[in-house]
Amino acid sequence: MPSIFSGIGSANPIIGVFVGNTKQIVRSGRSLPHYGPVASLCRALNATAYIFSPQDIDYRKHQINGIAFDRKRGQWIRKKYPFPHILYLQGGLEKLDPKELARFQLAVKSSKIRPVSSPLEFNKWEVYRILYSRSSLRPYLPETKLFRSAAADLEPMLKRYGAVYLKACRGRRGEQVMRLALLPDKAYHCCYFNEKPVASRLKNFSQAVETIQAFFRRRGFVVQQPIDLIEYKGKKVDLRAEMQRNGEGALEILGIPVRVALENSPITTHALSYRFEKFFLEMMGYNEAALQDLRSRLNSLLYRIYQSLESRYGPLGEMGIDIGLDKKGNLWVIECNALSAMVSLGNAYEEKTVLRAFGNALDYALYKHRQNTAEKYKN
Ligand SMILES: Nc1ncnc2c1ncn2[C@@H]1O[C@H](COP(=O)(O)OP(=O)(O)O)[C@@H](O)[C@H]1O
Ligand SMILES: [Mg+2]
Repeated sequence: MPSIFSGIGSANPIIGVFVGNTKQIVRSGRSLPHYGPVASLCRALNATAYIFSPQDIDYRKHQINGIAFDRKRGQWIRKKYPFPHILYLQGGLEKLDPKELARFQLAVKSSKIRPVSSPLEFNKWEVYRILYSRSSLRPYLPETKLFRSAAADLEPMLKRYGAVYLKACRGRRGEQVMRLALLPDKAYHCCYFNEKPVASRLKNFSQAVETIQAFFRRRGFVVQQPIDLIEYKGKKVDLRAEMQRNGEGALEILGIPVRVALENSPITTHALSYRFEKFFLEMMGYNEAALQDLRSRLNSLLYRIYQSLESRYGPLGEMGIDIGLDKKGNLWVIECNALSAMVSLGNAYEEKTVLRAFGNALDYALYKHRQNTAEKYKN
């Protein structure tokens, strides 16, 4: 990663890494797996990095009570820091209620903070509509509706497809995803994942609606056509593409780990992941030509998705895109994540790739920081 060491000049950036909860991290007493590389890059750059979460922000004093790992003492030290120049989001936005989220976004917007990735969390319904507005992407989108009423949005979809996926607009990690299927005797089969796959049988439509309402409570959710995902040993499989802009601002695909679900799980999250090549060549028995064909179709789709979302939201530092491959070989867009914890990438790919991911993130942040500084001198 030579680019990160070059051309920064005398700029001395402060990097804030945003996570869900710093208290938990301090309590664990251990450094984070990815913090080491970030910290050593920062030392090389003469940059300061700290980690913080929503509770640590003092909006009035414009300060952040962040934490940094002291290697010598082997513990986290909490200290007051100024707001960062560069913000690296590592999740946690879903823990904010809408008011807190708006406040945080406003603080980012109104200060000089440069987010590496956008300080927004995608809304599944909004993203669907953006992608749908591109006619070339439509064939890759499972039919999706925002749930407004059971009669208008759920019943017709169930009739058409025999099953649906229900997903909270602001959900992550498969925690707000339910699969509902119509059974031959007019009862329903409902399943979701709560630490393990949970399934139940619902007698009739009104019981199904009650269950859904209790599951999502007041959160908005979408109703989606089920994708007939390929399977490995009877377990569902999907792909998680990790994409980033690098230190030259260019887009790259870091890796496309393949996720294999747990037995009987409606989602592939929280299970095993494999390197793309290993999975298709060794486990699925593809030949090189079939692998190349799949890869080139995927690449073209992924770049188009990324660019469509950037044309709406502005430059995005990174994105994790969930893609389904059905049994007929068609590709489908499952969802896009503005923030990616890169869990599957970390599990399936070697350390070199993970380091590249973090290097790219900081490189890109610094690239934007330099652009920003250059602009300031121009004015
Ligand atoms: N329409 C669908 N058809 C089949 N599987 C789906 C569908 N939507 C979601 N899934 C499964 O559920 C998982 C989680 O759904 P996703 O939309 O990615 O929500 P989350 O934000 O929770 O990650 C996906 O990775 C996929 O395995
Ligand atoms: Mg997902």
